Amino acid sequence: MTASSSPGSGSASGLVVALDGPASSGKSSVGAAAAVALRYRFCDTGLLYRAATWLALKRDVPPDGDPATLVGLVPEIDLIPDASGRLAHVSVDGEDVTDDVHTPIVDENVSAVSRVPELRAALLERQRSMAREPGGIIMAGRDIGTVVLPDADLKIFLDASAEERARRRAEERGFAPDSPEARQILAQLGERDDLDRNRSVAPLRPAEDAIHIVTDGNEFEDTVAAVVAAIREAEARLSVAPGGRA
Ligand code: C5P
Repeated sequence: MTASSSPGSGSASGLVVALDGPASSGKSSVGAAAAVALRYRFCDTGLLYRAATWLALKRDVPPDGDPATLVGLVPEIDLIPDASGRLAHVSVDGEDVTDDVHTPIVDENVSAVSRVPELRAALLERQRSMAREPGGIIMAGRDIGTVVLPDADLKIFLDASAEERARRRAEERGFAPDSPEARQILAQLGERDDLDRNRSVAPLRPAEDAIHIVTDGNEFEDTVAAVVAAIREAEARLSVAPGGRA
């Protein structure tokens, strides 16, 4: 394997798993919970794009401006492991900004920043090198199975209808399902999906060899169980020892 090739089968224990899906499909929370159950590492790549967007907004860097300025923000961004080894927090210049990057202003702007090819290129090797570290990993994003880890051992595309995803997001934020806020969430999700699906570089789409898990009507635990079962089945099929972290 060359330094920049896509990691895949070959982990002594645990698999390299790509987990993609549209906005609010549950990738981050489901992926993190499945990783704990399996003793896998977890990486939420959306945090990298969110942190770049947050920093760009803070510094008045327009997404359609000079790409090199956007790329220049990348070295300031780091993912922070928790006690279980999950990369589900992000820091900028050493300060944890995970809450700041999940605000509506970042939601509104992140797809415009993420479609800048130079920024995506700057983040690519970072994501691959995280996957290359020892032990199984679940990496969540939009283009993990298609671009970042095309040789992943298992690719899962987690999906749900826009209405279901917006309903869950509104519930999380404490809005009634028929409130104006809930309608606005649905509209914004649709816009973000459109931008992510129709960008020219690394658009959101399932890899041809991805298994689809549709989560409409599921309880959270049902979806975690389905993801864990798919990974265990792939471990058995590929004769890879379960788990990853000692
Ligand atoms: O997953 P999350 O909703 O946090 O991702 C935020 C945004 O980051 C997405 O809407 C998408 O524009 C971008 N993203 C991406 N590629 C990834 C992960 C996220 O373009 N692998």
